[in-house]
Amino acid sequence: MDRPLKLGLAGLGTVGASLARLVKDRQELYARRAGRPIEIVAVSARDRMKDRGVDLSAIEWFDDPVALAEKADIDVFVELVGGSDGAAYDSVKAALGRGLTVVTANKALLAHHGVQLARLAQKKNAAILFEAAVAGGIPIIKTMREALRGNATSRVYGILNGTCNYMLTRMEKEGIAFEDCLADAQRLGYAEADPTFDIGGFDAAHKLAVLTSLAFGCEIDLDSIFIEGIDQVSNADIEAAAELGFRIKLLAVAQRTETGIEQRVHPTMIPASSALAQIDGVTNAVAVDTDLLGSILLAGPGAGGEATASAVLSDVIDAAGSARVPPLGLPANELAPYKRARMRAHEGGYYIRLSVLDQVGAFASIARRMAENGISLESIVQRRRDQTDDGATRPVVLITHETTEAAVRKALEHVSRDGHLRGEPRMIRIEALN
Ligand code: NAP
Ligand code: HSE
Repeated sequence: MDRPLKLGLAGLGTVGASLARLVKDRQELYARRAGRPIEIVAVSARDRMKDRGVDLSAIEWFDDPVALAEKADIDVFVELVGGSDGAAYDSVKAALGRGLTVVTANKALLAHHGVQLARLAQKKNAAILFEAAVAGGIPIIKTMREALRGNATSRVYGILNGTCNYMLTRMEKEGIAFEDCLADAQRLGYAEADPTFDIGGFDAAHKLAVLTSLAFGCEIDLDSIFIEGIDQVSNADIEAAAELGFRIKLLAVAQRTETGIEQRVHPTMIPASSALAQIDGVTNAVAVDTDLLGSILLAGPGAGGEATASAVLSDVIDAAGSARVPPLGLPANELAPYKRARMRAHEGGYYIRLSVLDQVGAFASIARRMAENGISLESIVQRRRDQTDDGATRPVVLITHETTEAAVRKALEHVSRDGHLRGEPRMIRIEALN
């Protein structure tokens, strides 16, 4: 057998510790699959004394991931520290600068610096592999970068954050409060170190930014993504959605439109009968609409130590061979500039929940404002009172036919100004899915 593939592992948390355990426990299997032994020869984390569930005493320790990336005698630098900047960014840059192969699960890093890092990798004849960065264990990166190469993609969308899907599922099925669901997701190792990245939609946006580049051969453009998290989704919305035949999911969508590429992450009402609506718990799912193959859907665990380590291992085993594919599918200097489609031009159906004051003419006035803005209503339903409504208001749910985001926002501004509402209107976009 060839000489071992030497790994330097930065980060020994949920994913890093799982990876270290697997590399040790399955060394024979991985050696056969890689054609050479795989050894971790250097590690880095903050706390040297912490028990990681694996014996690391014979492995060289670095307090600083950057020092590991710069100095350790390694072939592959595995970055599992996290964060878009700081130690993760500096160490990855240092490793690529040395011409090493980098394996990372860090979507924040890629969303902010992916194109720059791809260029650096190209210049230094290095490689950057990131199967674990999007949708945890689901092999979506290789699928889009390699298996779908013969197709043109028109849309990629899915459930890309395990924490949010786990929380929405438990809120819906068990009626558990938002904060309690979040605490459980953190305890299970699903959430980011700062969970506002999950519930605010930013983690899903980081992943979407990477998928958009692979789908459309363009530069990564995180700033163009319209982002809304699940923090405003209430039990009342979930209940109303169910009664109307929908489920609420945090969806990430990138699609080609006539004006450019539309990227958005927001709570979405999807038909309860659709395939995506069946995706529960920490499971992620990614759908890709292509011209030759049609639509495919990949689903599987989107977070957790072993599920994510599974994807990291696939990159590590690839790194043992010699085949190289450009990180974003095209040579970095051939990526097209990102062309943005404005969110206000987005077209679709909308769910709108209003807290309407019990006043004569309120309904008529709301319906008139919708009509004035060219919005056709599929239904308008006065719902029973819930804990958010006192005696003076009634919850009212409107479902619109397809219209534009600009029209809905303008109509709601008028409705709010007319003085028939208490509080802000709540709006959830509806996605037409099979
Ligand atoms: P984590 O549990 O928070 O672990 C982070 C590790 O990095 C810890 O071992 C920590 O050291 C170390 N670290 C942090 N800052 C450091 C610094 N300045 N210098 C040296 N070491 C430092 O994170 P994780 O959940 O394993 O996630 C790692 C990466 O994988 C992130 O990019 C994350 O987004 C991504 N990811 C995670 C999952 C998941 O399900 N958890 C799934 C897909 C992708 P100490 O342990 O000593 O504190
Ligand atoms: N916090 C992320 C999630 C981890 O919940 O999906 C996987 O990227």
